[in-house]
Amino acid sequence: ADFDRLLSAAGDGLVVASNRQPYRHDYGDDGEVTVDRPAGGLTAGLDEVMRRVDGTWIAWGDGEADAAVVDGDDTVSVPPEGSEGDTDSGDANGTYTLRRLWLDEDEVQGYYYEVANQVLWPLCHAALGTVESCGDAWTDYRRVNGQFADAMAAAAATDADGDPLVWLHDYHLALAPRRLRDRLGSDIGGRGDGATDRTAGADPTLAHTWHIPWPSWDTFRACPNRGALLDGLLGNDLLVFHVPRYCESFLRSADRGLDGTAVDFDAGTVDYRDRTTTVRAAPMGVPVDRIREQAESMEATGFRAAFRKNRGIDRDTRLAVGVDRLDYTKGVVQRLDAFERLFAEYPEHRGEVTFVQVGTESRSAIPAYADYQDRVEAAVDRVDDRFATDDWRPVVYTTDYVSDEGLAGLYREADLAVVSPVRDGMNLVAQEYVAAGGDDPGVLVLSDQAGAHDTLGEWAVSVRPHDTEGFAAALDDALSMPERERRRRANALTDSIEDDDLDSWLGDVLGAVARVASADGGVPTR
Ligand code: F6P
Repeated sequence: ADFDRLLSAAGDGLVVASNRQPYRHDYGDDGEVTVDRPAGGLTAGLDEVMRRVDGTWIAWGDGEADAAVVDGDDTVSVPPEGSEGDTDSGDANGTYTLRRLWLDEDEVQGYYYEVANQVLWPLCHAALGTVESCGDAWTDYRRVNGQFADAMAAAAATDADGDPLVWLHDYHLALAPRRLRDRLGSDIGGRGDGATDRTAGADPTLAHTWHIPWPSWDTFRACPNRGALLDGLLGNDLLVFHVPRYCESFLRSADRGLDGTAVDFDAGTVDYRDRTTTVRAAPMGVPVDRIREQAESMEATGFRAAFRKNRGIDRDTRLAVGVDRLDYTKGVVQRLDAFERLFAEYPEHRGEVTFVQVGTESRSAIPAYADYQDRVEAAVDRVDDRFATDDWRPVVYTTDYVSDEGLAGLYREADLAVVSPVRDGMNLVAQEYVAAGGDDPGVLVLSDQAGAHDTLGEWAVSVRPHDTEGFAAALDDALSMPERERRRRANALTDSIEDDDLDSWLGDVLGAVARVASADGGVPTR
């Protein structure tokens, strides 16, 4: 495939940087290592990519800093010991290097909890009322971005052939591209030995994928330090968003928010300082074949039966499912309001349908997130109190860990998936649900506020999360959809996610990298 050629061109010169690490290792007293994988589609998707090349992934080493620092162990080879059977499958079982950055508590607070998740996250999701001012935290954000830049420069310097490709991810690292540029051609920051590194004089290609929305200029202009953020991101050669409307918003922000930029809206480029940044859309996909295999596994089948039994859900009761990190952008509260309205206004669904919400705890140290978990629980109790009978529950809510196979099984078991974020960069759950579908596929109910709606909206049942009445009517439509129509939509959705799967996304991004790089003599395309 095209991406294999492009990947091998990047070779071991591929350096990936993201805040979240793909694996968290915990070291028991007996020396036993346990491995955990974080929630979120991004790291799982990238892990598949990295297994195909012998590159380096740099991430915050959330967790066992002490144990690892004592051992001097900030680098592991993935798949690490103890992960057998956890992640290997098919062709994607290669190894790569995971380099962790250990941050102190203040840095984590300022960089991750405050700037990334109480300023940039709500701002980019157009939740201005949730933005908290953060004063000193910018110092931490800047410092940690500098640490990432140092680590990227050092990793890029180990590449013997050609110019490396550095691929950054997300809103945690907005300043890092500029910091990395500043380090190139000079002593590698942080090494402090005065030696000139091999990166000096090299011109790595910097690509950055922004996985959350880019807001309208009218929202972005509220951002403290907006000029510095734009300046940081314009250190990239390529900036990738999931859908074209985020590209347009970014170009507008670059045009209005920073002096000295020349924006070409038709070409999708920004000239700034001595560089052109190309801005492109590439909607992320999911590994369709792998999810299908998971949905067909024995574990998935066992999970489906056990889930019904353990939760007291009758075999004939239809299931609707929602799967989310517990984040106020995900619209879980609005979804529960809509189910309440459904059972009130369309009583024929009482006793017939149970809504299963799987929630994963997330960023709980932030008050808005802790509050949100409480609000979800309160809404679940309210709907339950109002409608539950001795032998039927309107809502089953769980925060228990569910394996990938279990989740794929639950998707296949469900007659509907309800993916209704109030705003979402992409949302991979919508695609995972379709990928897991079997011979008797279900209906996807999808918010028009998700990036995924731009690619799948035509065949989903669209909802606007705050329109409770319309949402309830849409749930009724979905539950009442004639089989022929349901299959027609499911086939179209399946074709779409197969055409635009994870490999295809990777090919799109790497293809754009190759075009950008060849224009200025960077990463070779063959
Ligand atoms: O999609 C945005 C994102 O921040 C990803 O980077 C991450 O995988 C996911 O949300 C989970 O968030 P966190 O890393 O803060 O737990």
